[in-house]
Amino acid sequence: MPGRARLQCRGRARLPCRGRLRVRSSAGLAGLLFARRLTHTAHALFEAVLRPGDDAVDLTAGNGNDTLAMARIVTRANSQTGERGHVLAMDIQREAVAATQARVDEDLEDPDAASHVHVVQTCHANVRDYLRQPGVRHLRLVAANLGYLPGSCGDVYTRADSTITALRESLEHIERGGVACVLAYPQATQGDESELDAVANEWLVLPAREWHVVRVEHANRTGAPVLLAAYRIAD
Ligand SMILES: C[S@@+](CC[C@H](N)C(=O)[O-])C[C@H]1O[C@@H](n2cnc3c(N)ncnc32)[C@H](O)[C@@H]1O
Repeated sequence: MPGRARLQCRGRARLPCRGRLRVRSSAGLAGLLFARRLTHTAHALFEAVLRPGDDAVDLTAGNGNDTLAMARIVTRANSQTGERGHVLAMDIQREAVAATQARVDEDLEDPDAASHVHVVQTCHANVRDYLRQPGVRHLRLVAANLGYLPGSCGDVYTRADSTITALRESLEHIERGGVACVLAYPQATQGDESELDAVANEWLVLPAREWHVVRVEHANRTGAPVLLAAYRIAD
């Protein structure tokens, strides 16, 4: 789909028009880079990457904030095809699935749109089973916000092995011009390696002719999360 992925600079932020990624975020480049929270940076990235009619996956649905941010864009009908896209939201915890489903039902006013969001209780390592379904046509974004469910006692949290499996499976399905995006915390450690390092090391060796990998972090804040994003080069 190279034609759809050409750079279109809109709004106040303008990147040099030599790349391939659309910059559509109303926050602009400075808003994207300097947001107070990296979750806001991630959402600005979602806005820049996603178009109505795309498909997206949230590997860690949690309280549904990321799922909703994706759904608000992709479940709108595409102006050319008329099709709405889908969001697959996965979480291993029942409470998270319930919270995300409630957010979708309440905050997406259009019931047709809500029916395009599928919230499932499962480990994200099983993502391959869902990505093979025929409904997934244009996988444009896969996101994971690692750690534990905010507000919970914190005894269920993401683990490097299942996270890496989920990301490997997902990257295979992301279309050109699409992005995988992970928010990880340096202190979350199982064994010798933090989950952040596990993902960073995994993506370090992605072939540069096919992927651009970037790392965004607040360098003067200790223990702050880090945003890793892998962009599949459009052509
Ligand atoms: C930081 S929260 C996600 C926040 C969420 N994206 C939001 O917008 O509210 C991390 C979530 O990962 C979930 N989780 C932990 N291990 C998981 C696994 N193996 N598969 C899927 N979800 C998992 C937790 O249950 C928790 O809800």
